[in-house]
Amino acid sequence: MTSRQNKTVIESQSLCVQIKGISVLKDLNFKVGKGEIYALLGGNGAGKSTTLKTLLGFNKPKSGLAIIDGESVGDALVSVRKKTAYLPENASLYPHLTAKENIEYFLSLADIKKSNDEIESAFKLVGLQSDSWDRQLLTYSKGMRQKTAIALAVLREAPIFLLDEPTSGLDPVAIDEFNQLVTELASAGATILMVTHDVYGACQVADRIGLLRRGELVGEFEAPDEGRIDTELVHAAFAQRQPNE
Ligand SMILES: Nc1ncnc2c1ncn2[C@@H]1O[C@H](COP(=O)(O)OP(=O)(O)OP(=O)(O)O)[C@@H](O)[C@H]1O
Ligand SMILES: [Mg+2]
Repeated sequence: MTSRQNKTVIESQSLCVQIKGISVLKDLNFKVGKGEIYALLGGNGAGKSTTLKTLLGFNKPKSGLAIIDGESVGDALVSVRKKTAYLPENASLYPHLTAKENIEYFLSLADIKKSNDEIESAFKLVGLQSDSWDRQLLTYSKGMRQKTAIALAVLREAPIFLLDEPTSGLDPVAIDEFNQLVTELASAGATILMVTHDVYGACQVADRIGLLRRGELVGEFEAPDEGRIDTELVHAAFAQRQPNE
């Protein structure tokens, strides 16, 4: 929360993205500083997932720039993707492998060597119970699969997290655990951009919220120094009404 003066790590600079001739992102500008949790909030079809895919270089902007850690994404795909942990809505790990096997497999693909102790430390950090480490992921809840995916990101030492609807489908306890985890990651210096349509969840965890409507940023909200962003205010803006109306 002290992060807003920190250097910019993620930047959408006048991004315009068209898909099949339709403008999906329209002159989108926002910045996320090191150690900050930024929630891009918007309804279905607002362009949230498109923003993340553009920041990862999967969509080519018609104009404008996606910048990650000072590099234009289009010019530095490999280095940008190395630094970035992208969690799509349904974390894509292998259901027939255990959590440990998944981690070992994906680390080997990335040519990263970690000891068993380091892997277990990452599981403990994300709050994955030890009796599940050697179980196939098909027996896992959504919250447990997500913790495994975040453990992988931690082991990859990716300092930038792009999270697509990370709390959708999680129960309130799992959401609290998730919020605590991302807050800890951000306090340790990670930069977190999450996209969501959950006003309450965004207000619970974000240092700043950007409101996205039909591909345009129509408002930004910032948490006070000691406190959270006002849910009622954001909800009213999301629903396009006056607070208390
Ligand atoms: N591959 C595609 N082909 C056609 N249209 C697309 C494609 N990808 C995105 N769109 C359109 O772009 C707009 C934004 O889509 P996007 O998936 O970014 O929205 P979103 O905010 O993530 O929505 P949701 O909350 O439903 O996940 C939508 O109108 C969608 O139909
Ligand atoms: Mg989406």
